[in-house]
Amino acid sequence: MKLAAIADLHYRISSAGLLHELLAGAEREVEALMIGGDLTDTGLEAEMEVLIEDLRRIELPIVTVLGNHDHEGGQHELLTEMLTRSGVMVLEDNAVEISGVNFVGTKGFCGGFGEHLIQPFGEQAIKRFTEESAAEANRLENALARTSEGPRLVILHYSPVIDTLTGESVELYPFLGTSRLAEAIDRQGADMIIHGHAHNGSAAGATADCVPVYNVCRFVPQEGRRAWRLLEL
Ligand SMILES: [Fe+2]
Ligand SMILES: [Fe+2]
Repeated sequence: MKLAAIADLHYRISSAGLLHELLAGAEREVEALMIGGDLTDTGLEAEMEVLIEDLRRIELPIVTVLGNHDHEGGQHELLTEMLTRSGVMVLEDNAVEISGVNFVGTKGFCGGFGEHLIQPFGEQAIKRFTEESAAEANRLENALARTSEGPRLVILHYSPVIDTLTGESVELYPFLGTSRLAEAIDRQGADMIIHGHAHNGSAAGATADCVPVYNVCRFVPQEGRRAWRLLEL
């Protein structure tokens, strides 16, 4: 199955037509489109309306997760409903199957990596932050455990590994993702992971169990100098 993956569209009211420029012919090459979050710039209904008009013209199954920017306006439930109503599959700790491939997705969260993972110690605010990070990973692991036979492709917004953060400031790493997500995926097994969010990161990496990870953020140079990445499962 050939797929197109992109993330960080950051649609504004003035963005009409942007998606078609970014995808530049992808529709002729692939069977489905995956979008790794930050669909809108500030999470406004009006921004999502512009994007949905552009999505309507794409005759492919579209699978997405929301990003942190889609939460900015406090309307993420409404945005999810708008997407769902227009036929886009929005994953939030769940999976869909298309042509025998399991697409499993969630936004993910921050929290850091490896031995520098944030720990639930001290102030309540730190504990809540850490709990959110762990809970997102747990929910993803449960969603993976519920999938049926067949290849598994994981869609995230936050990064599960540091490999694809190369190019970002090291100080930002804890806010760009968490290895708790990669550990959850490695425990259940997957064939491929895509994410966005790290606008200044790099395109490819892998988990400890060698699951390929692609940062498909549209600001990160992809193979063939495209804004999207061609993936095959
Ligand atoms: Fe973004
Ligand atoms: Fe983001």
